[in-house]
Amino acid sequence: MNPQKKLLDWYLLHKRDLPFRKKKQAYPIWISEVMLQQTRVAAMLPLFENFLKRFPNPESLAKATEEEVLSYWKGLGYYSRARNIRKAAITLVQQYNGSFPKDLNSVLKLPGIGNYTARAILSIAYDLPFAVLDGNVKRVLSRYIGYTKNILGPKADVELQEKADEFLNQSYPGDHNQAMMELGATICLPESPKCLLCPLMEGCFARIHGKTNEIPLRQKEKKQILLKGDIWAIEKGNEYLLIKERTNRFLKGMFHLPYGFMGDLPDPVYSPSPFLEYLRSHWKEVSHIGSFQHTITHHKLDFSIFHIAITDPKELKTILERMELDFKWVKRDDLEAEFPSSLAKKVRTRLSS
Ligand code: ADE
Repeated sequence: MNPQKKLLDWYLLHKRDLPFRKKKQAYPIWISEVMLQQTRVAAMLPLFENFLKRFPNPESLAKATEEEVLSYWKGLGYYSRARNIRKAAITLVQQYNGSFPKDLNSVLKLPGIGNYTARAILSIAYDLPFAVLDGNVKRVLSRYIGYTKNILGPKADVELQEKADEFLNQSYPGDHNQAMMELGATICLPESPKCLLCPLMEGCFARIHGKTNEIPLRQKEKKQILLKGDIWAIEKGNEYLLIKERTNRFLKGMFHLPYGFMGDLPDPVYSPSPFLEYLRSHWKEVSHIGSFQHTITHHKLDFSIFHIAITDPKELKTILERMELDFKWVKRDDLEAEFPSSLAKKVRTRLSS
């Protein structure tokens, strides 16, 4: 038996008896799917029944005031969902005679209806072949097919949607989608999944390889940190000063052009070195020769380049020695070899112009 058939048989036997599953009608299915997006089944059921009694079809909803619709949404939270439902009902009445359109693009244009809701309504109400992807489906699917990449990554939704489409039971898309969600809600749990009761256990990658703890991988992308800084091209003849610092956040232990960050720093690790503080406070005869942006992991750096030509390096040498900094002077053409970071090139191109 193929896995889709096993899943369907399991669903028909074990599905919860829920009021929105009684009839294949787009309107109540739509309302239930929107309510279920941020609310658990048990919490939404009484409100769902009440809502449908007062607003049994798009016409009644379109005629009601926003205030009244909101009063029937009390307890569910995220009230923009109720406002959008009323607006969409008005569109249904005005443009579609009160019925629900059957093509994905038209449904996606309705207020408050995204990919998940559109696909859920079209598959469950009209048995159209659209696979849904919600949190539960992502977990079931990624474990089953062995999707080991980060499901919060930028490409995950597109890749998993493709896999969900491939895995869809074309003969029973609505029941298949609900079975996937039901499996995620009751068997394929985030922790301690009940694999022995699962209709997909035989072919499940995560179960076979003992990886249900690792899949799905959920790695939050680090928030981008913006930093404003200055980088110094200190010239003596045709040579430039490189220093080596031990406490920098970036380029630690590497010869580099002196640099530092300024303004409100999100963490003391980004504080400028004492040498940079010295340059800023003592050397005023500098030219601003350009600026550029540079990215290091999740940091976006906005650098201004300062240039100063000196004739007598004695004072500088004393300071560097007092601060116990390693330093050297390198030719412009050797800058990138001696300071192997793309920062060097970004500065050098401004120096020669
Ligand atoms: N979660 C949201 N919609 C659902 C549905 N139709 N069946 C099972 N779980 C769901």
